[in-house]
Amino acid sequence: MRQAGRYMPEYRAMRRRFGFLELCKNPEAAAEVTLQPVGRLGVDGAILFADILLIVEPLGVGLEFVQGEGPAIRRPVRSERDIARLRPIDVDAAVPFVFETARRVTRALAGKVPLIGFAGAPFTVASYVVEGGPSRDYLHAKRLMYEAPEAWHRLMAILADATARYLNGQIAAGAQAVQIFDSWVGVLGPDDYRAFVQPHTQALIQALTPGVPVIHFGTGTAALLPLMRAAGGDVLGLDWRVDLDRGWAAVGHDVAVQGNLDPAVLLAKPAYIRQRAKDVLDRAGGRPGHIFNLGHGVFQETPVEHVKALVDMVHELSDRR
Ligand code: CP3
Repeated sequence: MRQAGRYMPEYRAMRRRFGFLELCKNPEAAAEVTLQPVGRLGVDGAILFADILLIVEPLGVGLEFVQGEGPAIRRPVRSERDIARLRPIDVDAAVPFVFETARRVTRALAGKVPLIGFAGAPFTVASYVVEGGPSRDYLHAKRLMYEAPEAWHRLMAILADATARYLNGQIAAGAQAVQIFDSWVGVLGPDDYRAFVQPHTQALIQALTPGVPVIHFGTGTAALLPLMRAAGGDVLGLDWRVDLDRGWAAVGHDVAVQGNLDPAVLLAKPAYIRQRAKDVLDRAGGRPGHIFNLGHGVFQETPVEHVKALVDMVHELSDRR
């Protein structure tokens, strides 16, 4: 889940002082934002404050974050010509501030809880670069895949390579686990996933520093889970559109799973939240290898006390087993 965010008053206070990109590029402030949820909520891991789109800035696509609208790419990459012009991304030059944030957070945490780094999976990052922003149907990305598969594969390879260096840099700076967000991959059918995505996600995961757990997450992935598992990851992240027990059976009990409470449940009263949290834990059945999490990010409208209550409930309910 996204831990830091606008549902937290502390985060909103920081955002009054800094624009979103400015905040990501200021390691002192970004480290503070990373640590806020750990102190306030009592979660078992810190999530690096950064974004999946930071690595595409050097492609010259005109990355901006627009208040209330999310990310915007002013010069999307849509044609074979656009893609032929792209050069490999110099990650160390592009995001030194992310690595510095990770070093500061690692020092401040002093081993109390692990730091989790993250990046976008090649498909989800490509979808922004090609569409220019959020999309419902991903028609530009799909047209490119179908009509210019070589160009598509070149773009995916550039992103997979940069993403591996982005994550390995976070690991070198202290991240003890990394999560790969393929947030929008659920718009693809299994054949398209297999042909246009899986080889790149697999290459990315294989290029990561050995021995560091990798969490591989997507949404709307019920039909893709076995293929995502084959692409790699020590933990498969599940969203709420699949029952946790069925999702776990689909990927196999020899991998761990993370998930999968619907974040909208946090809008309801704590007694109801408890019932639904317990249902997720019951479906995990006390089996080792379940990481309790939301199925996706916290909505801005969520009362922060409800998130805190959930963390406490999960600690209490899982100690009882
Ligand atoms: O500290 C943390 O917990 C880090 C949180 C985090 C951010 N981005 C910070 C952020 C994470 C894990 C991400 C990853 C990310 N970024 C994803 C994958 C995760 C997911 O939710 O599926 C995606 C798709 C992006 C791209 C992105 N960045 C979008 C779609 C948005 C707009 C979201 C919104 O709610 O408006 C962002 C901006 C963003 N990234 C915010 C935060 C806290 C909100 C920006 C703000 O303060 O206005």
